[in-house]
Amino acid sequence: MKLGIIGAMRQEIETLLEKMEDKTFRNIAGSAFCGGKLEGLDTVVVQCGVGKVNAALCAQILCDCFGVTHLVNTGIAGSLCAELDIGDLVVSRDAMYHDMDCHVVNYPVGQVPGMDVLAFPADEMLIRCAFEAAESVHPGHTRVGRVASGDQFVADQAQKETIIRVTNGLCTEMEGAAIAHTAYRNGIPFVILRAISDKADHSAEVDYPTFEMLAAHRCAEVTTAMARRLRDAEG
Ligand code: ADE
Repeated sequence: MKLGIIGAMRQEIETLLEKMEDKTFRNIAGSAFCGGKLEGLDTVVVQCGVGKVNAALCAQILCDCFGVTHLVNTGIAGSLCAELDIGDLVVSRDAMYHDMDCHVVNYPVGQVPGMDVLAFPADEMLIRCAFEAAESVHPGHTRVGRVASGDQFVADQAQKETIIRVTNGLCTEMEGAAIAHTAYRNGIPFVILRAISDKADHSAEVDYPTFEMLAAHRCAEVTTAMARRLRDAEG
């Protein structure tokens, strides 16, 4: 197994980089890809930058240039459901776009024309592993469900409600579905792991800067616990 870990922002990957051993760096398309061992597991960590295009191109580079066999997207997200509070964790059952909209030509919102799924399904083994890792870090505060992604920072109640209606997602962020889409097209298992930094409504303007660091570091801690479990499973 070779794990590719993608985070959009520095805060989302910095503690992972500190924990990596036998590090080597390669710069491709403006991102530094850090290869090495995370908890003894063969891993490549990259900060992709914000948004779907940055995320997809880094995921494809991980596949083509590093031969990763599994993809994990770690980071923060806005909550779309009342039960998910700041600091809580979401593991993707699947991921879809909330801003792909070809309804005028008869596709449901979210559907990419030409793709055979509306939402990209995450891998069962990785879901289980991410859930157990999340529960080990923050017991009783993890939910498994849909991640809704788009190129928008959501900080408005009406927009939040539209995204909930369209996707039925648990949280919203800006990269997960693009990584899921790339993984799907490459036939590679993936999971998205997100910690809640805000409620994706008017309160997000205040909450996001306050809780960004806490949520990003919690998610990195869970990702590390996940790598440990995957290494143990490898034997
Ligand atoms: N990442 C963290 N919070 C977010 C939000 N409210 N919208 C989009 N991405 C986010």
